[in-house]
Amino acid sequence: MSAEPKSALEALKTELLTAVGEATDLAALEEVRVSALGKKGRITGLMADMRSLSPEERKERGQSMNALKDEVGAALDARKADLHKAALAARLEAERIDVTLPVRPEREGRVHPITQTIDELTAIFADMGFSVAEGPDIEDDFHNFTALNFPPGHPARDMHDTFYLPDRPSDGSRMLLRTHTSPVQVRSLLADKAPIRVIIPGRTYRSDYDMTHTPMFHQVEGLVVDEKTSMANLRGCLIEFCRAFFDVDDLPLRFRPSFFPFTEPSAEVDIGCLRRGGELKIGNFGDWLEILGCGMVHPNVLENCGIDSTKYQGFAFGMGIERIAMLKYGIPDLRTFFEADLRWLKHYGFVPLDVPSLAQGLNR
Ligand code: DAH
Repeated sequence: MSAEPKSALEALKTELLTAVGEATDLAALEEVRVSALGKKGRITGLMADMRSLSPEERKERGQSMNALKDEVGAALDARKADLHKAALAARLEAERIDVTLPVRPEREGRVHPITQTIDELTAIFADMGFSVAEGPDIEDDFHNFTALNFPPGHPARDMHDTFYLPDRPSDGSRMLLRTHTSPVQVRSLLADKAPIRVIIPGRTYRSDYDMTHTPMFHQVEGLVVDEKTSMANLRGCLIEFCRAFFDVDDLPLRFRPSFFPFTEPSAEVDIGCLRRGGELKIGNFGDWLEILGCGMVHPNVLENCGIDSTKYQGFAFGMGIERIAMLKYGIPDLRTFFEADLRWLKHYGFVPLDVPSLAQGLNR
């Protein structure tokens, strides 16, 4: 077959470009591409035919063929991009979501009681001027123990059933999973110095498992350091918190002497309750229930963080989040918090968007 004259190429170009322009969807466009540039396509065929031409003819012809191929290829690409855009727009239109529709009840998720409790206590402490600080779950010995005035070899370290990570080959030191949120006291003091007023909610870990212990649980730590901070401030702060959290205006608190290496003096705090049969009620009923540990920050801790303990004093407290959630919401078994049972979550969980705030009431 002889080479087609130029005008024939022009006609072919016009025909193909028209077909490209008229393709109304991606499938039709693909057909045009195959018919022009596919293995048996018309342009491909003409390219193959050039083998019979003389070298000079082939050169000239090759140039116009390449130009044709490029032009048709570019038109195909451009049309493809347009059709993609149109297909996406059509799909967005077809699958448009009416965000004003109410959530279907069977699809509605629930907020886990731990999250809810952290939101609630954050709202209460935020109202008292506390900000929220966080620290890493994997800690070193310095932050978890030494800086908190647990000397190496001190028996109080053994009370924590610590999970240690394997030795670090570089220096032989062992990292650990923090056994309490108190190491973040050290991190906050080192980073922000005094004055400071933070709460620190987060995960903590101890090697223990039964009705009242899980290897991972949550604590919230509080830390206030200033030039005039007293045990009376600590007492007032905790009374305020407990009454707001449990929504009992006359909830009594009892401070009992205790020991923590990082506070001096130290106390454990009980709240009033009533135990009758299997039932437990929070309020001014004469019985007592322990809920947290606290005390005045030990001067050694302040000095370990480069803070002048003759100028600054502070108070700190720490409590288990599951424990106060169980008490407030009547959840009997700690282990169920972490079993990821949807029926449990449906029962004890909270409706999303019902974010706790003091203004709207925590206990709706
Ligand atoms: N870190 C302690 C624990 O896990 C709780 C605690 C007690 C924290 C007294 C404090 C505190 O900040 O002052 O058992």
